[in-house]
Amino acid sequence: MKEDVLHIGGVSAPALAQHFGTPLIVYDEDALRKRLTEYLDAFRAPGLETRVVYAGKAFLCGAMAKLVANAGASLDVVSGGELACALNAGFPAARIVFHGNNKTPDELRAAVEAGVGAVVVDNLPECEALAAIAAEKKRAMRVLLRVNPGVEAHTHKYIITAHPDSKFGVSVSRPEELYAVLGAMQAAEFLYFDGFHAHIGSQIFDKAAFAAEAAALAALAEDAQKRGFAPRVFDLGGGFAAWYTDEDAPIPVAEACETILAACKAEKEKRGLALEEVWIEPGRSIAGEAGTTLYTVGWQKDTEHRHYVFVDGGMADNIRPALYEAKYSCDAAEKMNEPKTVKTTVAGKCGESGDIVIDSVMLPPVEAGDLLAVYTTGAYCYSMASNYNHLGRPAVVFAGGGKARQVLRRETPRDLLALEVEEEAVECD
Ligand SMILES: Cc1ncc(COP(=O)(O)O)c(C=O)c1O
Repeated sequence: MKEDVLHIGGVSAPALAQHFGTPLIVYDEDALRKRLTEYLDAFRAPGLETRVVYAGKAFLCGAMAKLVANAGASLDVVSGGELACALNAGFPAARIVFHGNNKTPDELRAAVEAGVGAVVVDNLPECEALAAIAAEKKRAMRVLLRVNPGVEAHTHKYIITAHPDSKFGVSVSRPEELYAVLGAMQAAEFLYFDGFHAHIGSQIFDKAAFAAEAAALAALAEDAQKRGFAPRVFDLGGGFAAWYTDEDAPIPVAEACETILAACKAEKEKRGLALEEVWIEPGRSIAGEAGTTLYTVGWQKDTEHRHYVFVDGGMADNIRPALYEAKYSCDAAEKMNEPKTVKTTVAGKCGESGDIVIDSVMLPPVEAGDLLAVYTTGAYCYSMASNYNHLGRPAVVFAGGGKARQVLRRETPRDLLALEVEEEAVECD
């Protein structure tokens, strides 16, 4: 029988809550390391260089950047802020991949000055701006082109779309545009075209989607090679699913890696590609399941159709249910063995009816002061958190080996008030 009290990284949930308060996001540090290592070990194939690039958008802070660096993985950043966070933590710039569809000139300059390992160029004007900055700084930059391969995977199915309308990248269905960007890269003295990047969706359960993505990139690469743009890198992005509820069956890491590498190798041989390196960018699959949010139960309410349990957080620390109807699982963290007899709606404390953490879950009877543990909140929760209703963002702790350390402190009303200024109006023109 499991323990009646939930432990994370060897620390009991009540001890964590008492020490750090709630809502609290707790990462099992060993689980983070284990998953990173699993990717790094599985994503290898003779004859191909490989890189596992953790997608920092899932969750990033200095401690996370250090953990990723120490594991030996690379890091994907999408803004000057994420770049600054990584560099501040001492993350090696050469292992940083800079993404984004609208990087500002300042962000491009910061990336060039830092000497990031690669910039993933999204569009022609961005390419021209980067070329100019790299020339001005006389810094050679490796660039990949983000392409939209016409493969879209969302949850269980993937589809081939002829005319994707995504805001990201250049579509393979628009070859003129695509080759205009490659031409601009080639013409730029300080840019070195390295290869293609694609990202086909998130929470992907179907490994055939990744094989289809590799095939689409390979078909493009064959054509590009004939035109004198031989890509040596394929970066297949992220999208590897995580477990949120028992409806989810993520592809085992080793299987996903094997599928991608086998498809890339087969395409390389079949088409005689100059391909040398394959990269992937898992975010959710590394950070998601390692994170758990602890909430304290407040009041409860019955309506015609629901039994509400209110918690001391909600859409400000986890926007995903409101944004995507994302589903979660939870437990009463001190009543792990009690029969789950109450059909419950877990709702947050924000001023929105859509502020529902879990629409329907079976729980034991709970009372005010009990702890709820919502699982798999390690990805896209803290990183998407807001100060809606002037709520401070939760503290984040890393727990392991029976100890816990705070890596991000809780925001307080004082932090929010510190942003306020009372300045004299100035002439702006
Ligand atoms: C370019 C890119 N790479 C990687 C990721 C990470 O995706 P996931 O967390 O689903 O693995 C994303 C997510 O949006 C992305 O846009």
